[in-house]
Amino acid sequence: MDRLTFPDSFAWGASTAAYQIEGGWDADGKGLNIWDTFTHQGGDRVFKNQTGDVACGSYTLWEEDLKCIKQLGLTHYRFSLSWSRLLPDGTTGFINQKGVDYYNKLIDSLLAMNVIPLVTLCHFDTPQALEDQGGWNSEKTAEVFEQYAKFCYSTFGDRVKLWITINEPYVFAKLGYENGIFAPGKKEPGFGAYRSAHNMIKAHAKAWHAYNTFFKEKQKGLVSIALDSDWAEPLDPNSVDDKDACDRYHKFRLHWFANPIFVDGDYPAIMKLKISRKSKAEGLTTSRLPEFSDEEKNMIKGTADFFCLNYYTTRNVRPLSIKQSGPSFDSDMGAEGIKDPDWIESGVEWLAVVPWGLRKLLAYIKDTFGDPNIYITENGFAQSDPPVLQDTHRWGYFQETLAEVLKAIRQDEVKVKGYFAWSLLDNFEWNSGYGVRFGLFHVDFNQSNLPRTPYFSAIEYAKVVKGNELIYK
Ligand code: NOJ
Repeated sequence: MDRLTFPDSFAWGASTAAYQIEGGWDADGKGLNIWDTFTHQGGDRVFKNQTGDVACGSYTLWEEDLKCIKQLGLTHYRFSLSWSRLLPDGTTGFINQKGVDYYNKLIDSLLAMNVIPLVTLCHFDTPQALEDQGGWNSEKTAEVFEQYAKFCYSTFGDRVKLWITINEPYVFAKLGYENGIFAPGKKEPGFGAYRSAHNMIKAHAKAWHAYNTFFKEKQKGLVSIALDSDWAEPLDPNSVDDKDACDRYHKFRLHWFANPIFVDGDYPAIMKLKISRKSKAEGLTTSRLPEFSDEEKNMIKGTADFFCLNYYTTRNVRPLSIKQSGPSFDSDMGAEGIKDPDWIESGVEWLAVVPWGLRKLLAYIKDTFGDPNIYITENGFAQSDPPVLQDTHRWGYFQETLAEVLKAIRQDEVKVKGYFAWSLLDNFEWNSGYGVRFGLFHVDFNQSNLPRTPYFSAIEYAKVVKGNELIYK
């Protein structure tokens, strides 16, 4: 039996997001967001046409969530603000005081329990009114986001000291504006992801500068962005083509955002090269990948005070094998990721359990992006529905993962400052609806009071948090 201790003042958290837990989709003056619209349109884009209308009911049952947080003994809680609950049309033209009251209660109660809030400004749920004016395809949204961020800093920043601007811009841009399988459901392969991500990066940078210029001195907080990444291994470690494909896999996902923000204000060279060459061959006069001006590069570079990583899985990577017709992100990248048949699958098809991938990714981030302080802002394992409360297998995955995090800290000297399990509660898992359960707490969606019950994983996680150590057999 090993007793493995974490560094002093390690942050122990769990994460959620507004649309996935709150419900109250039209309560007390909340405006519509893109997920309200997307789910209400039906059409089997979401498992069983489920919606987040009620979800975990956290808009009214937030005190139940606090009990879960207390039971886990967390030092930190990551949640997101529903932009359209605060600003129904996305702009500061009208402020919904009831929304402000809701988050004030939540933040004050967390602080009264000695739990530090880590607050995300936008977790996939753009106000519909902004989407109607182009959403992330429009540069204007970056400006409106800056105003929204300033409003949040001035309203909550006396108490919130850790901010995330945008959650997983890769997923948001690619699934929302390229494949259209997430809200807002726009299908514009080869264009949409690049254009929307371009505006997200600018929005993030503007929001970081707004904090730095107007709030930092007084509020003394930190601002970052949550980036998701797989770890990528070459399918055949001896193949140069697979190694190159692996490099592109990282460059087109993690570096797409981390390069501008953490390195030099610009996209990775290989992305620029590949996309401009293909664009030319398609007869276009400009690249499908938008360019940043020099002024923008200067504005974007260095706009993160720490590194937020969402890690779930790993892929074996090789060059793209299926030739796609027409432009697309995947053919620009020219790489594909495959699950190793030996890896265990969790309750959702894309999530193969690969704890060692996280250690490699952490070391890679340290070496590539200037040895930043890293918070693992999401990591977790799903059960399919119906789930079992005695989820010993799942706790095993958490244990193995935490052991890898410790190796990264102790052996590789990566500055990992915290770990946030996804998720506090079973919740609305986007287009998988309630069919996939990521919670540390089970939620009974069939009962109107939506009772929360700890899984075995929650009970064990609480022991780790309490002792700041992993007791590992
Ligand atoms: C990342 C997203 O941020 C979160 O909303 C989602 O539920 C988890 N991954 C699991 O898929």
